[in-house]
Amino acid sequence: RWHLSRSMFSEYQKLAKEALPKMYYDFYAGGAEDEYSLKENVEAFHRITFRPRVLVDVSRVDLSTTILGYNISSPIMIAPTAYHKLANPEGEIATARAAAACNTIMVLSFMSTCTVEEVASSCNAVRFFQLYVYKRRDVAALLVQRAERNGYKALVLTVDVPRLGRREADIKNKMISVQLKNFDGLLSTKVANDKGSNLEALANEKFDASLSWEDLAWLRSITNLPILIKGILTGDDAIKAVEVGVSGIVVSNHGARQLDYSPATISVLEEVVHAVRGKIPVLFDGGIRRGTDVFKALALGAQAVLVGRPVIFGLAAKGEYGVKRVIDMLKDELELTMALSGCPSLKDITRSHVRTEREQLH
Ligand code: FNR
Repeated sequence: RWHLSRSMFSEYQKLAKEALPKMYYDFYAGGAEDEYSLKENVEAFHRITFRPRVLVDVSRVDLSTTILGYNISSPIMIAPTAYHKLANPEGEIATARAAAACNTIMVLSFMSTCTVEEVASSCNAVRFFQLYVYKRRDVAALLVQRAERNGYKALVLTVDVPRLGRREADIKNKMISVQLKNFDGLLSTKVANDKGSNLEALANEKFDASLSWEDLAWLRSITNLPILIKGILTGDDAIKAVEVGVSGIVVSNHGARQLDYSPATISVLEEVVHAVRGKIPVLFDGGIRRGTDVFKALALGAQAVLVGRPVIFGLAAKGEYGVKRVIDMLKDELELTMALSGCPSLKDITRSHVRTEREQLH
C-alpha cells in the first residue's frame, strides 16, 4: 500500500545489505524473537496522519533546537549503536564526523569499536556517552570518568538490557563479539564459543542484571554530567525517572531488539509525556525513517528524536558521507513537512497537528 521502497531509508538499507556480510547485516537490521515490535515501531507511524494548517507564512522554516542547552541544527540526533567498525573501517569516527558536519549530537555507544578518546579527538560534534553498567562497577566508573574528561556532555544510561534480548538471527549466525579497545587492559569483551550469539553470551556474562533505581544515586556520586535514562516505555517509570532526578529520558524499546511485543514506541510516547508533565525533556527513538515520522514524534511531545538503523545503513553503504546524507535527507523531509503543515518553527508543532489511530475513528 505504501511505496516505502522509494524512501531514502530503504535505498540505504538495500545498499547496506549488499555491502555487508550476512552476519553483520542481520545483526544491524534484526530484532528480537518474532520481530513483532520491529515491524510495529515503523508501522505505527503509518497510522498517524496530519491535521495541516494552511495560510501560515512558511517562507522560512527553522529546524534548530536546543538539547540540554546545546544548540543543534535540527531535532534529529544519532542514537547509540554498537560496533560501527563492522559497518565501515573508520567506525564511530566516521559517524562522529558526520554528526559534526550536520551540527547534531552523537550518542557514542558503550559498545563502540573506536575509543572514547579517538572519537573525541576526531570531531567537534557535541557528544553524549551511552552507558551500560557492567558487574565490574569499577570499569563502568572508569569509562564514565574518561567520557567526562574527554568532553562528553551527558551520560545516557540504557536501562533495557538486564540481559540481551533473544535475537534469533544472531543465534543462528553465531554472531561474533569483538575486543573493544575501550576495555583493553581492563577486561575481555570477546567471547568465542560455538553455541550461538557470542554477543548474547558477552552481555549476559558482563552486564549487571541487578541494576535498579537505587543505583542512580551511585551513578550521580561518580559524575557531574547530566544523566538521561534510555529505555522508558511507561508513564509509571517516567514518574520514577523524574523522582530520581535525571535530566531527561529517552522513550525507546531498543530498536525492538530486547523485549518483543513491547509496544511501538510512538504509541507510548504521549503516555510518557503526560506523566513527565514538562519537568524534564523527553527524547524518542524507534522506527524513525522519514521526516514525517520526526514531525509526528515532536507533535506527540518529544523534544528530539534519535535514529539508529538509518545511520548504520548510511555508514555501511557510504561511510561518513552516507551518514551525513541520511541525516540531511531526514532534515529536508522534516522541513518540507513543517512547511506543508503550517509550522515555521519547532515550537509551532503541536498535538493538534496530528491525528492518532484512536482519533481517526471519530
Ligand atoms: C542499538 N541500540 C543500542 N542502544 C544502546 O543504548 N546501546 C547500544 O550499544 C546499542 N546498540 C545497537 C546496535 C544496533 C545494531 C541497533 C539497531 C540498535 C538501540 C539504539 O540506540 C536505538 O534505540 C534504536 O536503534 C532506535 O531504533 P531505530 O532507529 O533503529 O529504528
